[in-house]
Amino acid sequence: MALGSALWTVMTGAASKAARTMKRDFGEIEQLQVSRKGPSDFVSAADLKAEKTLRTELEKGRPKFGFLLEESGEIQGADKRHRWIIDPIDGTTNFLHGIPHFAISIGLQMDEEIIAGLVYNPVTNEMFYAEKGKGAFLNDHRLRVSARSDLGDSIIATGIPFRGIPGHSSFLNRLERVMKVTAGVRRMGTASLDLAYVAAGRYDGFWEVGLKPWDIAAGLLLVQEAGGFISDIEGGRTMLATGDVVSANPRIHGPLLGLLKDN
Ligand code: IPD
Repeated sequence: MALGSALWTVMTGAASKAARTMKRDFGEIEQLQVSRKGPSDFVSAADLKAEKTLRTELEKGRPKFGFLLEESGEIQGADKRHRWIIDPIDGTTNFLHGIPHFAISIGLQMDEEIIAGLVYNPVTNEMFYAEKGKGAFLNDHRLRVSARSDLGDSIIATGIPFRGIPGHSSFLNRLERVMKVTAGVRRMGTASLDLAYVAAGRYDGFWEVGLKPWDIAAGLLLVQEAGGFISDIEGGRTMLATGDVVSANPRIHGPLLGLLKDN
């Protein structure tokens, strides 16, 4: 059982501590929206504060592990086999706009493999957690991907490239192919939660390209441990290196991959 394990205690403890301050900061955003300077500096500060808390707490629990942090980059640990991959606030744009859909994402990598993952939305208090070989959980419930087998009944989530990000026309081509044959497409703006929602069977599939390791490390394991399939856009296993992700329940993954491949 993953819940209650030593790792779970370390990871949930760190996330809960960072979340307390993050929730207070999020509460300030509404007032800051109207100020002329805008809330971006405030959000960067909130991001850094959360990252520092997570690092400090995880170091207390596992002093020798290294880190790959969204804000501070790579930090080598004495233990070269283990590192934490962390996004303190995934969904920063949502946070900035006062949209309560963002998450703390913590993945634990051992050698080339992700062996534990946590995605926590402090506003809804939904804590998604998985350990390799021990299943995926939402709070204390076991997770299972959806059982839908027909793309026509399926909800597929994605991420849309924005200003300064390449691939706008390639995205539109893929979207057109997907939207024509599915029950709907969603773009919520937090990749770690998109993957957690696939694990929870809320979405039947999710794809996005060009993500960063800290957006997806934890979510990849959540999907796998909930019985889902995950690959890059060619069907390979380069997700962490390329940032390209196609994840879905086992019945939908093949057909979704087929739609997304450029011929
Ligand atoms: C972003 C979110 C978003 C995705 C972007 C990411 P950030 O992460 O995960 O859903 O579409 O590509 O950059 O910047 O909020 O940590």
